[in-house]
Amino acid sequence: MRRIPGAAAAIGAVLILCTSVQASVRAPGAAVATRSADIPSEQLLERRLNRAARMTVRSRARVHRLRLKAVKRRPPAPVAPVPAPVVGLTAPRRSIPLGSSVVLKHLRDDAAYEAALSREFVQLTPENELKMNRVQPEQGRFEFAEVDALVDYASTRGKTVRGHTLIFGKETPAWVGRILLAGDVEAALRAHVRAVMSRYKGRIREWDVVNEALETNGTFRHNAWFDKLGERYVEIAFAEARATDPGARLFYNEFNAETNNFKRASELNLVRKLRAKGLLDGVGLQLHTAINGYPTRSELEETMRLFADAGLEVQVTEMDVIAKGDAAPGSLTARLDLQASVFKGAADACQAVAACTRFTVWGVTDRYSWMGAEEIPLLLDGSYTAKPALAAVRAALSA
Ligand code: XIL
Repeated sequence: MRRIPGAAAAIGAVLILCTSVQASVRAPGAAVATRSADIPSEQLLERRLNRAARMTVRSRARVHRLRLKAVKRRPPAPVAPVPAPVVGLTAPRRSIPLGSSVVLKHLRDDAAYEAALSREFVQLTPENELKMNRVQPEQGRFEFAEVDALVDYASTRGKTVRGHTLIFGKETPAWVGRILLAGDVEAALRAHVRAVMSRYKGRIREWDVVNEALETNGTFRHNAWFDKLGERYVEIAFAEARATDPGARLFYNEFNAETNNFKRASELNLVRKLRAKGLLDGVGLQLHTAINGYPTRSELEETMRLFADAGLEVQVTEMDVIAKGDAAPGSLTARLDLQASVFKGAADACQAVAACTRFTVWGVTDRYSWMGAEEIPLLLDGSYTAKPALAAVRAALSA
């Protein structure tokens, strides 16, 4: 975890305050109303909820009571294009599905990998096979064979697939950068989203539509999409995704925005706008971290509640925890125990927030981790033996 200095954190907090004040003044979808007498009682309640939600922990009971009141008073819902928001209430314990990223090559070549995947995880995220540079290496030439194989594998084993990812600056094929006109870049973006999502309609129901659009300082990253289309490439991707498969759940996925920092403030701003337009259902917290600097359970819970209170679902999408020798002093046993507690903190946070619906780690085994096997960051070691973290995560995620 790279943390920002205290002063920067304070500015980040101010930014968040500004964005939440904005949100309370203008509830998504609602007209701007200024006087209490002008607005219907439900909106009034929403305003009070928003205000109360910004207060400290002591106010949680009040928020709870107000929400119950709001639920009781709510008139029958009109037919809405977007599923109802999930709010950040304290959740009743439930069983949260445990997933892993998966690499088709290992699934085919390594029987022990397949056995471990099949035994331990109920959801698969293609680690690279669905990225645009793999699926559409040349304009108009689509390579779906590997994704097809993963989706077929999942369906024969009764597992679900997370669609990762449609638009990801870093994993965009070079040909996109060679397109000269913005209009043609937009057309290529829309065509990609449409082709991929429509192929897996009904089989992949949750998508990371856009991945890692933001820099550490909260500005937009430069990439082939941003450079021609500006920030609006994100909204274009979500709009095309919504139109292609209205039944799918659409996510924005990001890393290192799990604590109170500039990127999280900027992400909140972005996702609130997308949510208000009915284009977004949830956010993914990647959670790549390490035992020598990690988000605590309470930091994660706070972040999850912020997104939940914006009406969004939350998922842990790519967790791993580096625990190699020079990450922290101590014996292997001590490091693995600390790693287990870091995983447990995240799983406990997910369990505590009703809007948190999935918990996914970035790899089945240390052996093939993208970090390198020596980082020992996952739930099973290089010989597929369960590490302390596996039992800790399982217990935290179970009902
Ligand atoms: C990583 C894969 O694990 C690697 O195999 C690949 O070389 C690069 O991408 N955030 C993401 C994932 O959203 O797509 C990345 O996956 C890891 C960081």
